Amino acid sequence: VDQPEIALVGVNGWGGVHLDTIARLRAAGTARLVAVCEPAPLPADTRAAIGDVPVYPTLDDLLAAHRPSVTVLVTPIHTHAGLAAAALRAGSDVLLEKPPVTGLDEHAALLALAEETGRAVQVGFQNLGSPAVAALAELAADGTLGAVRGVGAAGRWVRDRRYYRRSRWAGRRRLDGVAVVDGSLTNPFAHSVQTALAAAGAAHGPLRTVEVELFRANDIEADDTGCVRVTPAAGPPVVVATTLCASREHEPWVAVFGEAGTARLDYRFDRVTVTTPDGTREHEYDRTDLLANLIAHRADPAAVPLLSPLAATAAFTQVLQAIRDAPDPTPIPPEHWTEVGAGDDAHRVLAGIDDAAARAATDLMLYSELGLPWT
Ligand SMILES: NC(=O)c1ccc[n+]([C@@H]2O[C@H](COP(=O)([O-])OP(=O)(O)OC[C@H]3O[C@@H](n4cnc5c(N)ncnc54)[C@H](O)[C@@H]3O)[C@@H](O)[C@H]2O)c1
Repeated sequence: VDQPEIALVGVNGWGGVHLDTIARLRAAGTARLVAVCEPAPLPADTRAAIGDVPVYPTLDDLLAAHRPSVTVLVTPIHTHAGLAAAALRAGSDVLLEKPPVTGLDEHAALLALAEETGRAVQVGFQNLGSPAVAALAELAADGTLGAVRGVGAAGRWVRDRRYYRRSRWAGRRRLDGVAVVDGSLTNPFAHSVQTALAAAGAAHGPLRTVEVELFRANDIEADDTGCVRVTPAAGPPVVVATTLCASREHEPWVAVFGEAGTARLDYRFDRVTVTTPDGTREHEYDRTDLLANLIAHRADPAAVPLLSPLAATAAFTQVLQAIRDAPDPTPIPPEHWTEVGAGDDAHRVLAGIDDAAARAATDLMLYSELGLPWT
């Protein structure tokens, strides 16, 4: 049995989740952690979970000592392109966290390098591991919902000051002269954007138009509230409306709106709810882990396609580039938001945004078209 050697890069944040996944694959006998790269000190529990596996301060140091079959990159967004290129050049396949890169040039360069080296790049949109997304796309295409008006997604979460303080790059559009493009649409709700594009059958691009509106209630550089409307070259329009200034956490959804019904995907649970004049039915799908899928793909590329390949993030990256190129977010005047809690728990709540984001996603409108006082 092929037991690929895995290197994990960036372990103190979301990388901890990947560490657990690798441990599960190890227990199942399908993969083995051989090296970790992490420049920062390791908390005791992470240290314990890593065990005897060597830890390197840079990926170059790691690659000088190991030839991993798969490199899992869970580092700040602006480091993705460079680290992924180094891993590919070392002959490794890559599982790259989302958003994959910070622009279209970087995307084209990485795709070309993957082609040249013959290596695979899987992008960490974990819910694409579920057939729920394809089921939604099929419902958009097969007439079940009648003529399709469009695909809408609403992302409404609460993020406190601790979230923006966790890392230097959090809430930044640029850092030390390089693009970061962190923000509600491109990072926490990147899954909403990618899933909505996939549901519209548009993930491979190109998109004909991309309209972007960015706002912020917090004292950050990036959007904490934003919306985007895209027109694919073929297929229905897509609107994604987001905020990190909601009054409470809502389950993010992506929905296909047709003249004869609606299909909604709660993508964190791979649950599709179809509502037509005949009634409502619900179906929950399984999910394949993206690292397990990449390992299976290595063993038999023809039989096992990647579930979230880099090529299928072309339209997503076109949206990200439009956000990168857009003017900096419009600050929302204090009369429209309130600050709840204190210290690191403090978070700002934008009046009416819970309803507004759902309305934008349902009516396929931008925030500026809803008559909201802060636009
Ligand atoms: N798929 C998901 O649902 C999901 C969820 C959270 C985060 N993410 C993604 O994971 C990535 C990391 O996010 P995070 O919130 O964990 O960030 P973080 O800043 O909290 O952690 C990043 C880790 O990478 C390390 N690091 C920084 N530069 C490095 C380098 N050059 N080489 C090696 N290690 C380096 C840091 O020390 C830190 O331990 C981002 O792309 C983010 O969007 C994905």
